[in-house]
Amino acid sequence: MSEFILNINGIVQTTDVAPDTPLLWVLRDHLKLVGTKFGCGIGQCGACTVHINGAPTRACLTSVDSVGQSRITTIEGLDANGAHPLQQAWQELDVPQCGYCQAGQIMTAAALLKKSPNPSDDEIDKALAGNLCRCGTYLRIRAGIHRAAEISAQEAI
Ligand code: FES
Ligand code: FES
Repeated sequence: MSEFILNINGIVQTTDVAPDTPLLWVLRDHLKLVGTKFGCGIGQCGACTVHINGAPTRACLTSVDSVGQSRITTIEGLDANGAHPLQQAWQELDVPQCGYCQAGQIMTAAALLKKSPNPSDDEIDKALAGNLCRCGTYLRIRAGIHRAAEISAQEAI
């Protein structure tokens, strides 16, 4: 076991785990940040997506010893009030069905909107291609991202 000091959602947190422990386990089992989901555990579904220094990253494939002092953001830290434009749009359009994949979808979409504030359908489909939804909410996810782009633009005025 080793001690790791992590910067998660702007808060310094300490954990004592084996160095090869996946970040996903640390978030969920040790720090109780259970918004990030375990889907496949092999990098294929996107349910575990978090941001590391702003980049969407699979927490199931990221060992805790590889993170260092990087800024980790989980769905709990995306917006202090849970009112990120994507979260507003998701509620407005009732995007989720079972909801299991949605934290990963939103984290991937948030990174896309940072890079491309008004993305085309094509950009959305490419950026979210690795985020699977067994409920098939893809069209609502796409609509939600367009709506979030509108909300962001309105908030910027
Ligand atoms: S749980 Fe990480 S990609 Fe599926
Ligand atoms: S909403 Fe059920 S898996 Fe996506």
